[in-house]
Amino acid sequence: MFEICGPYTINGSVEVPGDKSISHRSIILSSITKEKVQIDNFLFSQDCLNTLKILKKIGVKYIINKDSILIEGHGVSGFIEPDDILYAGNSGTSIRLLSGLLCGCNFMSIISGDESVNNRPMDRIIRPLTAMGARIYGRDGNKKAPLVIFGGNKLKGIKHEINVSSAQVKSCLSIAALFAEGPTEIIQPEISRDHTERMLEYFGSEIIFDGKYTKIIPGKDLKGKDIFVPGDFSSAAFFIIAGLILKNSKIIIKNVGINPTRSYLLNILKEMDANIEIKNERTKNNEKIADITASSSNLKSINIKEGVIPNIIDEIPILSVAAAFAEGITIIRGAKELRLKESDRIKTIFNEFKKAGIKVHEYPDGLEIYGNPNTKIKSANLKSYGDHRIAMSLAVMALKGNCKVRINNTKCINTSFPEFESKLFNLVSR
Ligand code: S3P
Repeated sequence: MFEICGPYTINGSVEVPGDKSISHRSIILSSITKEKVQIDNFLFSQDCLNTLKILKKIGVKYIINKDSILIEGHGVSGFIEPDDILYAGNSGTSIRLLSGLLCGCNFMSIISGDESVNNRPMDRIIRPLTAMGARIYGRDGNKKAPLVIFGGNKLKGIKHEINVSSAQVKSCLSIAALFAEGPTEIIQPEISRDHTERMLEYFGSEIIFDGKYTKIIPGKDLKGKDIFVPGDFSSAAFFIIAGLILKNSKIIIKNVGINPTRSYLLNILKEMDANIEIKNERTKNNEKIADITASSSNLKSINIKEGVIPNIIDEIPILSVAAAFAEGITIIRGAKELRLKESDRIKTIFNEFKKAGIKVHEYPDGLEIYGNPNTKIKSANLKSYGDHRIAMSLAVMALKGNCKVRINNTKCINTSFPEFESKLFNLVSR
């Protein structure tokens, strides 16, 4: 639980932990190589630990040393049958990406998650994996986890058009494609994050990817190489917005991943007149990294178009906080995927903003936020709904208020950012 009574300022410099999406991919893809792969700045959060525990159960060996992990890759055929149910916890990325891997293995497995994951749609991976020849079944008419996978069928490459852009679905199929005969092509309506493609390319896989199109040509062994996981842009976003909305503030966030399929929030914030500087741009293991400075700003509202939603999907809760303190009405539409995340994020933002005194309207596919730099936050008892990004967004919102705001159930923050509380409260002052 957090009890926050603002208003605060935020100043100084911070490093956020390693990127969650890249951390998952780094251990999954390294285990398919035949090399020992050193992964630095790995994110030891609950979600990534769930992926790691599942890999261990299917025979992957590793050594942990501080914030690094050494994966001993054993090639595509080195996995072994687990003797228990595989548990993905709250992590949609774990269950979807690992299902692609398990379909390529020669054994039976069951993978499940917590209540939230087991109610999220899995038909979006079950259907194309089945078309590839996999035997994968789920409850609720093959729509939801737990999933049962009978490996052993040789997979074949397919051409699959995804209805709703999703990096998790694309990555699941890309991983299954490594075990298949013949190429797999994936086409999406909009561009989604391309970390899997970049890492496969870095590992020497035969892959073509260009915006909405991805083609994997299997057959070539992946060649494991060391990885530095950049700071997580989605975690950095909480500090960026705090720097922008709080008075007399300037915050530098170092070593942040700014992959363009992931960091479109920066473009949006610049359009909102945010004082943001990007410095020290460089590339490490096929991913762009930079230092980001955010200072107090007079933000103005924005109208967000559907096509960019996949590139800001995880940042919409914290962007909504920025919108609440921007001049004018911010409109976010075409974002119904938000209803299928760790919580129904349209509903949870709507409910909690209303309780805190922020005027907001709910659409089936988005939100309308009535912003004002002088918005007064009301003293309230807010809920996280067990959703890490909602909890962190509400905490940043509360820093701006001048009365006591309580945020319940903040333990969920451990799924992506275990040190959030200490890092944030080290930098803020009244
Ligand atoms: C992720 C992709 C996104 C994102 C999630 C992580 C990934 O989900 O919301 O937090 O690591 O591939 P979708 O691609 O399903 O929208």
